[in-house]
Amino acid sequence: MTDQKTGHDLKLLISSDSIQSKVEEIGKRISADYRGKIPILICTLKGAFVFLSDLIRSIDIQTEIDFIWVSSYKSLTEPESTELISKNRTDLKDRHVILIEDIIDTGITAKFIQSIILSENPKSLKVCSLLDKRERRKMHIKIDYTGFVIEKGFVVGYGMDYGERGRELRHIYILNK
Ligand code: IMP
Ligand code: MG
Repeated sequence: MTDQKTGHDLKLLISSDSIQSKVEEIGKRISADYRGKIPILICTLKGAFVFLSDLIRSIDIQTEIDFIWVSSYKSLTEPESTELISKNRTDLKDRHVILIEDIIDTGITAKFIQSIILSENPKSLKVCSLLDKRERRKMHIKIDYTGFVIEKGFVVGYGMDYGERGRELRHIYILNK
């Protein structure tokens, strides 16, 4: 279908209902794993903000949130370099940190962010990513909480963009270029 708003040819990949039940499932696991603790969820901007907002509401223990803003896509679909735009404000020393990612593709961005977080000496660091495009991985990343493993191809919706468009879409689509 051609999306009226974005003007792009989009094919449904993951429906909003499937996303919601997966987010609930991850929320339950995080709640169980961190019971008695107050983890801080560090969200990668911009793509992971929709996932973060649903995820914190499916976790039934106390959490804190903060954001790291990095830019990894200089061209529309291929990574060129990773640039830190703004860093978390909360001190992560001795904190239980969970990095919240929308999608781990080559792994370059997640590795970069992990090194920033680790330099603050957190008590623990786990990685949670809604999507895992593992076929394209260039750096080894251990993902502790994975939503869906997907094949290569460019996705849009649920916070993820194509040239800054389509973040507001409820479902996740594959873009036919
Ligand atoms: P990586 O450094 O190659 O792992 O890329 C990670 C970042 O690139 C993600 O956090 C996304 O913001 C973006 N990205 C990677 N693949 C896609 C995609 O298919 N759609 C939208 N954004 C993507
Ligand atoms: Mg992006």
